Amino acid sequence: MKRSRVNEILQEGDAFIRSFGYVMPPFAYFAPDEMQRRRHELAGIVEARLGWDITDYGQGRFDELGLFLFTVRNGRAEDLTRGSGMLYAEKIMISRQEQLSPMHRHVVKAEDIINRGGGKLVLELFTSDASGDPDPEAEVSVMTDGISRTLPAGGLLSLDPGESVTLLPGVWHAFWGEGADVLIGEVSTVNDDLTDNVFREPIGRFAAIEEDEPPLHLLVSDYERLLTR
Ligand SMILES: [Fe+2]
Repeated sequence: MKRSRVNEILQEGDAFIRSFGYVMPPFAYFAPDEMQRRRHELAGIVEARLGWDITDYGQGRFDELGLFLFTVRNGRAEDLTRGSGMLYAEKIMISRQEQLSPMHRHVVKAEDIINRGGGKLVLELFTSDASGDPDPEAEVSVMTDGISRTLPAGGLLSLDPGESVTLLPGVWHAFWGEGADVLIGEVSTVNDDLTDNVFREPIGRFAAIEEDEPPLHLLVSDYERLLTR
């Protein structure tokens, strides 16, 4: 994915998010050289992997297969082990119309996926079989705003603005926007995108970036490579 395209998506995403009255935190707007200069002060941001995360899952077809994410807050894995402290995380995301976030499950993370506005958010759901794969036959039950819903294997759950679903670890899910782009909130357990995503198809989690112009803002996946200690 070209950096120029990432920069474009980042600006379009920022405008879309603001159009709903949601404003991202100050660190969203730091330039790369500012992050480099203030890297010691910003260690908490870099270590928790807060910030921009624009992914085409390494497949180079962002419009069909991709997701815009911004991690607003993220707790500590050690706190989770300890059972107290900062055990939670929050993301703001955009699924464009007919843009697929591919079928995956999480090992540790429970997540509420919330339609914050725009089109309908459609999720395809499976439960895990004994080996952890999507069960092609078993029904899948999820909580939707306090109400339990049971769907057939691969059933589609459609969320209107304001509606949400709780996805516990092991529930397989893919999702996309229908009718229009969708602003999505995610409230979850501590998030580690390096280890906690299991995809059904063998794909990556992050985009491979081709540097054709300077980055407007660093992506979370740039931190290790582009910030020197
Ligand atoms: Fe997920």
